[in-house]
Amino acid sequence: MKKVLDLISQEVMDAFENCGYEASYGKTGISNRPDLCEYQCNGALAAAKKYKKAPIMIANDVVAVLKEKPVFAEVSAVNPGFINMKVSGEFTAEYLLAMQADENLSVEKTDAPKTIIIDYGGPNVAKPLHVGHLRSAIIGESVKRICRFMGHKVIGDVHLGDWGLQMGLIITEVKHRQPELPYFDESFTGAYPEEAPFTISELEEIYPTASAKSKEDAAYKEEALDATAKLQNGVRGYHALWQHILNVSVADLKRNYSNLNVEFDLWKKESDAQPYIPDMVEAMKRDGYAYEDQGALIVDVKEESDAKEIPPCIILKSDGAALYTTTDLATIIDRMKLFAPDEIIYLADKRQEMHFTQVFRCARKTGLVKDETGLKFIGFGTMNGKDGKPFKTRSGGVMRLEHLLSDINEEMFRKITENHEVDPEEARETAKLVGLSAVKYGDLSNQASKDYVFDVERFTSFEGNTGPYILYTIVRIKSILNKYRAAGGTVEQGHIVSPASESEKALMLEIVKFNSMMEQAYEEKAPHKICSFIYDLANAFNHFYHETKILGAEDAAQQKSWIEVLDLTRRVLETSIDLLGFEAPERM
Ligand code: ARG
Repeated sequence: MKKVLDLISQEVMDAFENCGYEASYGKTGISNRPDLCEYQCNGALAAAKKYKKAPIMIANDVVAVLKEKPVFAEVSAVNPGFINMKVSGEFTAEYLLAMQADENLSVEKTDAPKTIIIDYGGPNVAKPLHVGHLRSAIIGESVKRICRFMGHKVIGDVHLGDWGLQMGLIITEVKHRQPELPYFDESFTGAYPEEAPFTISELEEIYPTASAKSKEDAAYKEEALDATAKLQNGVRGYHALWQHILNVSVADLKRNYSNLNVEFDLWKKESDAQPYIPDMVEAMKRDGYAYEDQGALIVDVKEESDAKEIPPCIILKSDGAALYTTTDLATIIDRMKLFAPDEIIYLADKRQEMHFTQVFRCARKTGLVKDETGLKFIGFGTMNGKDGKPFKTRSGGVMRLEHLLSDINEEMFRKITENHEVDPEEARETAKLVGLSAVKYGDLSNQASKDYVFDVERFTSFEGNTGPYILYTIVRIKSILNKYRAAGGTVEQGHIVSPASESEKALMLEIVKFNSMMEQAYEEKAPHKICSFIYDLANAFNHFYHETKILGAEDAAQQKSWIEVLDLTRRVLETSIDLLGFEAPERM
């Protein structure tokens, strides 16, 4: 469906042309003075110079034409030459009727679907998910859903960190504790046990213990490095142990992500890229891109236009070891081979920006991607506590994601059960949904690149710019619709009439913004646009609701129309929150 602003602009452009002015002066925007008008065109001011005529005269000419158009209820020329407009109720109602009949709620899907890989989540095996991974998962999931909604083929990849020293550390610690295990017996040729020699909670304790030991004990560190090398060289027992670590971790990660309503299409990992490295390095050397510098193998990636220094990309360290960069380059090869994506989008902490600049430049320069392949990094800021420092537990430790979520759920449960009798089981379920909305909306309503303060009290409030407020609004609409049904009404389509009040029109004019907002959210990969849209929409709805007796309405046709406007509001809100990655309960 055409966007409302485009329809209006078209009318105004036609009018400019009719009056003998260039059509392009008729471009129209949303008014920044909603007290005066809904839409506004400033083209007469610009046209004045070209036509050497007072702007107000041009505006008057155009307004005379516009006054005849059924699209507008009011049009006026205002000094020094603004054109102020209000659209007619019929036009608004007709637009809503068309939206209602459209399964995509007026959003036009792309006619040139791209294959887009989204690399997000990025957890590391055997390390518990902590709040640092929360943003990647939340923002990535939303960006994935937005791209998909616009009609693209999107593949979400968790890109598990499973290949660094952390694996050697775990293997070493297991070896110290259980040296008798067959994994460490080089002469062992039988089948290794099916069962892992540790549980997830043991694993989560093993890693930090090993990591701490390696910092104090040089010999231990040496052992871990050696174990890492053995694993990477494919030593059988080490590989089998690594497989156990992976299985145990992945099962746990899947459980955690599912609590977050985050779902990956692919569970690829850093190790999957390793087989590509030798050939990649050879090709980079052969083609003259990679050269040795102080023993390391590097590729220059600086460009003349750089304002700051972009250091070369290190492909291999002087000891021949591959790095994070090497893995990311090789992963691009893997992705191009398997999916030939048109675009790859990465989500990671914004402090990784330099890393991605280097990787992208190196990939382009060395021809790992096509010229037209998009490579985009979305860097996000830090989630801080109220003290302005990275969010920690009360005792100052790293907050585990699980604990963060259960704290929020407890708080929600308390709020939900505080004022009224509810079935505790249902309240638990509701608390989970509302808690998730608090966390996700609290995050997504900020521009991703900014740091933000994770404020449990504010995020869980039912008032203000919060997830629970949005859900509360949806639940309120559902409850009105249910009461209407219970009284014998049926919620249908096709009966929306012109708005009966200012507040109803304001609500309608918020609803119609959905398609243009979605285009922007997609273009800018910006979930926060959806948040501010639904906040405005929820406010407009609540204002209308407080002013209008909907269920007690006397005029049945009017009531039917209102019910349909409500149902459309609900659909737009529910579609929007689904794009943010959460959902509304039936009641709360
Ligand atoms: N595992 C990494 C980390 O914890 C994030 C991975 C981001 N993705 C990537 N392709 N480098 O920092």
